[in-house]
Amino acid sequence: MTNTIEYFVILKGTNKEFATAEFETLFSLYYNQKIKLEQISNVYYRFNSNIKLTKDDEIFKRLTFTKHVSFLNFYGTFEDLKSKLSSFEISKHYEGMPFAINASRMFKKFQLPQDLRELAAPVYDEFKSPSVSLKKFGIRFHYFYDTTETFYFTSEIYHNSMDYLERMPKYRPVVMPYTLKSDMARAAINLLDIKDKNSILLDPFCGIGGILLEGYDMGFKIFGNDISWNDLKYFKQNFEHYFPDSFTSGQVKRTLADSSTQFLKENSIDGIVSDIPYGKSCRRLGDDLYNDFLRSAKVYLKPGAKLVIIYANFLEFKEIAKKYFTEITEIDHYINKSMTRHILVLENTK
Ligand SMILES: C[S@@+](CC[C@H](N)C(=O)[O-])C[C@H]1O[C@@H](n2cnc3c(N)ncnc32)[C@H](O)[C@@H]1O
Repeated sequence: MTNTIEYFVILKGTNKEFATAEFETLFSLYYNQKIKLEQISNVYYRFNSNIKLTKDDEIFKRLTFTKHVSFLNFYGTFEDLKSKLSSFEISKHYEGMPFAINASRMFKKFQLPQDLRELAAPVYDEFKSPSVSLKKFGIRFHYFYDTTETFYFTSEIYHNSMDYLERMPKYRPVVMPYTLKSDMARAAINLLDIKDKNSILLDPFCGIGGILLEGYDMGFKIFGNDISWNDLKYFKQNFEHYFPDSFTSGQVKRTLADSSTQFLKENSIDGIVSDIPYGKSCRRLGDDLYNDFLRSAKVYLKPGAKLVIIYANFLEFKEIAKKYFTEITEIDHYINKSMTRHILVLENTK
């Protein structure tokens, strides 16, 4: 029997429902186990599993809205920790690695009681040949204080470097008002529940490629379609800026077609992810666009495959979509007083 391991997780505060769904979906995809993140408070969560995560796991190359994951070793006071520290076998797991200590407050109203050197001392004593490095550490231990006395003591597995921020709209060579932020795009792709790198991800309304740039970064085969040649030109420009070899690699395709038509072969697509035209800042062409698009998507999407569709609260989309697909979940994302985005996950099982 494998022991249960306790994990400590910090999510990005932007949209916790989205962040939780992303984490739980990817966990089930990579480890074939359903877990539930349990909120400790605010952006701090925990979960249990018998699976031992390691820093090189694939899941960590994908997560967007998770900032941190660590082993939750202990909760209590500093005095208690000192008496229990030897049971965590720090030397057995981490001997030879330079270590760092970090202390932070989970709530601003509390002060940090001890200074870092004091907090590092008992950990230091656990190593046979200790070495400390705050920058080039092999392992970082955290004290997350929830009061002035008590804290969660954890060993870090993953800290999100958030490289996708380089691809935020303002840094792309071409920007359009309707384009999606890279974090939203990435998390949306993760809800597709796909890990096979041979999978083809389609955005039938790809615009300048905001979503598909993230799909390519994750290693998938990319298919972008748009009705506007201008957008497709910019799509290529954006791709070549971030991934100079992308167009010669054979991993990226683009087509100029009306998505209300049957422009792809039957059963040829593994996942659809799209921010559909809203008709506000981008042109909406054709009254029955959504219905026609969904009817044709049903043909070219493989059975059982998913669609993640982002649409605005003022659009009638979901009811039409449910004529063709099964709803798995829907997440709301507040933008401003006049717009909330819905992230609708559908499955081709009807
Ligand atoms: C909301 S924008 C997509 C933005 C995209 N996610 C991005 O990040 O750049 C919608 C796109 O749908 C395209 N479009 C509108 N009607 C279309 C149709 N019938 N078929 C294909 N594309 C269409 C527009 O040209 C526009 O680029």
